[in-house]
Amino acid sequence: MAKAKLQAPKGVSEYVPPRSRAFEFVRDCLINPARKAGYQLIELPVFEDTELFTRGVGESTDVVSKEMYTFEDRGGRSITLRPEGTAGVMRAVIEHGLDRGQLPAKLWYSGAFFRAERPQAGRYRQFYQVGIEAIGLDDPAIDAEVIAIADAGFKAIGLSKYRLDITSLGDAQSRSAHRVDLVKFIATLDLDEATKARAELNPLRLFDDKRSEIAQAMQGAPLLMDYLSDASRAHFEKVKEYLDALGISWTLNPRMVRGLDYYTGTTFEFVHELLGAQSGIGGGGRYDGLMAELGGQELSGIGFGLGVDRALLAAEAESLIESDDFVSDLFIIPLGELAKRTSLEIAAQLRKLGKTVEIAFGDRALKGAMKAADKSGAKYVIVLGDSEITSGSVELKEMKSGITSSVTIDSLITALSK
Ligand code: HAM
Repeated sequence: MAKAKLQAPKGVSEYVPPRSRAFEFVRDCLINPARKAGYQLIELPVFEDTELFTRGVGESTDVVSKEMYTFEDRGGRSITLRPEGTAGVMRAVIEHGLDRGQLPAKLWYSGAFFRAERPQAGRYRQFYQVGIEAIGLDDPAIDAEVIAIADAGFKAIGLSKYRLDITSLGDAQSRSAHRVDLVKFIATLDLDEATKARAELNPLRLFDDKRSEIAQAMQGAPLLMDYLSDASRAHFEKVKEYLDALGISWTLNPRMVRGLDYYTGTTFEFVHELLGAQSGIGGGGRYDGLMAELGGQELSGIGFGLGVDRALLAAEAESLIESDDFVSDLFIIPLGELAKRTSLEIAAQLRKLGKTVEIAFGDRALKGAMKAADKSGAKYVIVLGDSEITSGSVELKEMKSGITSSVTIDSLITALSK
């Protein structure tokens, strides 16, 4: 009897060809602006001690209270698959003393993250982020630059149907002034025990409650924006000024609450218009108390996490990904042993010059090899036999139009670059 087929665990995102090429493209678009701004790669473990996230991300959050993949390892330690990247970066920065070097420490990362959420379109249990963190500088200009880097990534993909929401969660002084009034306000609401407990841990969480009766009740709640200290207000004004100077349009959203507890000051989210419920394609902000919370110095920081899966969905929704965007430049069909060797040489040379070249190996008959060339979607095809090698010229066929032209092997690179 045939054995049952195995399937991937529920809710994970996977990318297989041909879509994986589009995934790669999107991810690279999101990473490149960070590289160009001098951010350096930090490659971290996908699992950490659980305490890093309970302390770093905060126990009032859904991420920590409901969504972590936590297990005991063979040594009896509590381990968690990373639900986000910032806490791990902070841990590593402290552990490796990067906070004692040149500041700000500017780092980028890209990889898989894990949250046990209810799977739906654009919401996965394993998903991918590209993120950056700039640690140790409390200058509003870097807030604007961080936002601009994210924006440049989305623009490089070609996305245009998204908006940027920003707010400020203020400094400790702003938040404690606001908290007093917010707690008073919440005390007037009729809430169930679980919601009360959440509000006690972090009253701001109620702004993020999806239930319509709570959203309704919170309409009249005091907003942090009205409690900003002079310093926080001045910082935020500067950020907005720089964004305007950069031509990056923003919408003030004073009710924005991020799903993680470490945020302070400037916070932001990129929201795509065509993605329905899971429309957040990226977000981030300042986290000026996180390093100290994790046992490090009192250093400020700011960063973002961009959802690669969602950015890809957004690109598809905006019809930016054409099926022939990622095909090879040339497909070579060698006929015979000498041709095979020559094909390897030609391909190696063209690849060195930046072309993508495939060869039909396996001594297939010409008809079958032509079919493979067609299926590959390659832009051009050549058939290479003994006579072509002797004459030094080949018939270069453009697959889309079917037009052929005679070119010398040495000038293939020029012909392919047209
Ligand atoms: P976050 O908002 O939780 O922030 O996640 C960032 C992005 O990851 C979201 O905007 C979304 O695009 C994507 N994302 C989150 N959860 C899922 C999911 N279940 N499925 C698919 N995509 C998802 C952070 O993680 C912070 N660490 C960002 C940050 C860095 N803040 C400061 N520095």
